[in-house]
Amino acid sequence: MHALQRAFIEHDGLQCGYCTPGQICSAIAMAEELRRGDPSYVTLDLAAGPPVVTRAEIRERMSGNLCRCGAHNGIVEAIEDMLVETAA
Ligand code: FES
Repeated sequence: MHALQRAFIEHDGLQCGYCTPGQICSAIAMAEELRRGDPSYVTLDLAAGPPVVTRAEIRERMSGNLCRCGAHNGIVEAIEDMLVETAA
């Protein structure tokens, strides 16, 4: 199981599971964007180097994925965990 899949389970990042495949695919792509240093709409300082991973960055980059169940907090926490685990 991928680190993100484990983190989704640990943080209750899903309820019905309908949006989960899209959330996971988008989060993996988002992690690659962050590794490349791509800025987002909420990146505060474009001259400061790679964007700092904040909840605002994660929420903005995942904003195209809606969860009707309201599991967004768990989803953001799961993505944070995955980013920390894969950075180590
Ligand atoms: S887990 Fe139900 S829509 Fe996302």
